Amino acid sequence: MQQQSFRFFVPTVVHFGWNAVADTGRVVREWGTRCLIVTTSRIYHQTPLIREIQEQLRGYHVASEVFDGIIPNPTVDVLEQGVAVARTFQPDVILGVGGGSSMDAAKAVALGATHAGSVWDYRLGGEKAIDHPVIPVITVGTTAGTGSQISPVSVLTHSGIHSKHAIVDVKLCPKAAIVDPALTVTVPPRVTAATGFDVFAHAFESTIHSRRSPFTDILAREALTLVVRYLPRAVMNGNDREAREAMARADTLAGICITNAGTTLPHGIAMAIGGHAPHVMHGEALASVYPEVMKFSWASAPQAFARLYDIMADPDESSGLTVEAKAQKVSGEIESFLTKIGLRCTLKTLGVEAGSLPGIIEDTFHLPDYQANPKQPTVEDVNRLVYASFRG
Ligand SMILES: [Fe+2]
Repeated sequence: MQQQSFRFFVPTVVHFGWNAVADTGRVVREWGTRCLIVTTSRIYHQTPLIREIQEQLRGYHVASEVFDGIIPNPTVDVLEQGVAVARTFQPDVILGVGGGSSMDAAKAVALGATHAGSVWDYRLGGEKAIDHPVIPVITVGTTAGTGSQISPVSVLTHSGIHSKHAIVDVKLCPKAAIVDPALTVTVPPRVTAATGFDVFAHAFESTIHSRRSPFTDILAREALTLVVRYLPRAVMNGNDREAREAMARADTLAGICITNAGTTLPHGIAMAIGGHAPHVMHGEALASVYPEVMKFSWASAPQAFARLYDIMADPDESSGLTVEAKAQKVSGEIESFLTKIGLRCTLKTLGVEAGSLPGIIEDTFHLPDYQANPKQPTVEDVNRLVYASFRG
């Protein structure tokens, strides 16, 4: 067995199960008596979820305030509004309710309310560092994707410079995550596919990341197996409870993977796409670049790619193939999988302007993801990958 030293941690208490959301009041009370709920206006006004949570909080004598200004790909301006609400309300716990954007925003607000300057200053490689604890964050996820319920990551967009970036610090890890598959059954098919493919990307990229470990490999393998088997079912029938539960499990496992390993080149390009084309869902951006990036990277990590092929391919087709042959065929398997979940797309079909491509290529190098890729890309490589993903 190969000798290897590694670090592994899961700082978040996971409350998993159907109707786990009914436990939110009790879990919040463990962390304080003043709770700021960070969510979207759609969840607040079009579903009873927030009012039900506030009712629970009242039952536990927890005062609550709602900031419902979160938008998909939350901008610095929106996050600063949330910080202002937090500075006035003075919560001792922040509850992020919604998809990745709401949960990420809850972390950014928890940071902004306890640290000086703009939250943008704390992005990876930014001017400031998080040097003391933030307000404790608890998450209630309503999609199976992003892994934000458990991760130290808060993705944010600076609309002024078309830049999508991330704040990453272990102090942002939620204290508790309520993972209730029941909250995901109403998610529409396209969003189910996009968020579910993000789960796939988190799990797979963790297996080729420079910080991967035997522990992340085990969790990633389980997450990938669940996504390949159950995501098509969840897309086909949102009420398929077995599929929804499997995806909720996969999402959390993949979240543990990125917390301990991380993401690589596909995420680096997808984040840059999100900065220049905020209308594109994160999972759609990943889907548009994945086949090309797989063709580029496979030869530098053939074992990991071959293991993915074994998970995705028909066993009859894979028998007798060499590791290299399997690894090379992964991009074809991913193209078929994307077709199956209705997510086969190009940057062009996603409505990304050709004029944005040079900026996307440049911004890919503003994040560390490309450095963790098994094959380090040059600017020319990313140029070729992005234009190929544009044309399809
Ligand atoms: Fe992601």
